[in-house]
Amino acid sequence: MTTSMEKIVSLCKRKGFIFQNSEIYGGQNGFWDYGPLGTELKRNVRQAWYQDMVTRHNELVAPAGAPKKFSMVGVETSLIMHPQVWKCSGHYDLFHDMMVDCRTCKARFRADHISTSQCPQKPSKHPGEHDACALTDPREFNLMFKTIVGALSGEEGTAYLRPETAQGMFVNFKNVVDSSRVKIPFGIAQIGKSFRNEITPRNFTFRSREFEQMEMEFFCHPSQSREWYTYWRDRRYAWYTDLGISGDNLILRDHTPEELAHYSVGTADVEYAFPFLEPGEYGELEGVAHRGDFDLRSHMEGKLVKDGDQLVVESNDEGKPLYRGSGKDLTYFDDQTRERFLPHVIEPAAGADRATLAFICEAYSEDEQPNDKGQMQSRVYLRLHPRLAPIKVAVLPLIKKNGMPETAAGIYQALKEAGIACVYDQQAAIGRRYRRQDEIGTPFCITVDGDTASDNCATLRDRDSLEQVRIPVAELVDDVRRRLHA
Ligand code: GAP
Repeated sequence: MTTSMEKIVSLCKRKGFIFQNSEIYGGQNGFWDYGPLGTELKRNVRQAWYQDMVTRHNELVAPAGAPKKFSMVGVETSLIMHPQVWKCSGHYDLFHDMMVDCRTCKARFRADHISTSQCPQKPSKHPGEHDACALTDPREFNLMFKTIVGALSGEEGTAYLRPETAQGMFVNFKNVVDSSRVKIPFGIAQIGKSFRNEITPRNFTFRSREFEQMEMEFFCHPSQSREWYTYWRDRRYAWYTDLGISGDNLILRDHTPEELAHYSVGTADVEYAFPFLEPGEYGELEGVAHRGDFDLRSHMEGKLVKDGDQLVVESNDEGKPLYRGSGKDLTYFDDQTRERFLPHVIEPAAGADRATLAFICEAYSEDEQPNDKGQMQSRVYLRLHPRLAPIKVAVLPLIKKNGMPETAAGIYQALKEAGIACVYDQQAAIGRRYRRQDEIGTPFCITVDGDTASDNCATLRDRDSLEQVRIPVAELVDDVRRRLHA
């Protein structure tokens, strides 16, 4: 791991952002827990996504760059679905990685990660390079976690923890159309846990076995699907830059024709230069895919395969569908044009944990600032966007007497009542308290000092510019609210 990644992992643990799961028992590889600050940060990431995709979306006007106006709704679907969902979607047969085992040390590696993995017996070498290594040929390994539903054991009761949230939207397409007033084009959004039995979980939370996705399925007329693909591709890239990720560290990479899924007209990944990668390398934050009518057709007719240029239902040895679809009519009837068609889908699929990690990595900063005695000291601070910062304001009485704690407690109460995430801290010298807040990314500190009693003002300090301004106590809540939304 690089030095900066080590520092970030250490800060995450020290400050209560992210902990190794079940750490007191030695940890469970590929699973992570969010501590008090991490929980707030990740909640803010989710909330920013959901607000920007659903709650703040105005279906009466076309947003800038959109081909036309559209509706957005949310759903929350189960982690476990009917096993036929995964057979028709292709996950049952195709959702695997190639793995290699070492017969000597029993370690397991992803075949395509061998050149970047360490031999457990001799970490300076890659698997297969040490004399004692005895690697098997690559074999398929399905990434879906199996579980048993009810009292039935064996195949009959077998179900899978969902490896993506997307299928919950596809199988509910008809329910949403029938139960709400949405008309095509519209999107169904969902945030929720997904599970993948990754062979080699690694790079902190980047590749985990349990993680959270923020996915949206956008249903549109086939003739307009390319325009919508371009719109979502650009809009999703802009979401990360709007929340503070520098364009130097973020790329939008179009998949080459060889990388495209057989049903896809186009896919682009939003990728970030994570510090655990080599310079010039990027890791996927989000994929934006044009999926055609693949998903709705699969759930109507059965699992599809490519036959020349066409998608056809895959047959078994007897010429019958290998996996039958639901048989339900998932076509859409446009009552304006009187046309019935199977919508095309554009899917922006993001990871909440990867986005959270990228925001932390991007925010991590070090500089030199004078301490209380005017001596230069190194400072670690998180330049988190105010929308994402777990704590928005810290309220600090300069000293614990002369009425300062009481005034500060009143400001704290007013901020709480306004629903602004804040903390109250009267322990230690003021410089140390500022550092504490800088390190967790709090954008503003309010200090009540000796002048407050006479001028009824407090000092508001900005984390990034370190600028300090005097603001009337009565105006603090509105002022902070304005700054948070600036
Ligand atoms: N429905 C499409 C889909 O699931 P994906 O590219 O496999 O596409 C979407 O996943 C996003 O989910 C990824 O861009 C990534 O942010 C997140 N993700 C996928 N696997 C992950 C893992 N093992 N750990 C953490 N996040 C993951």
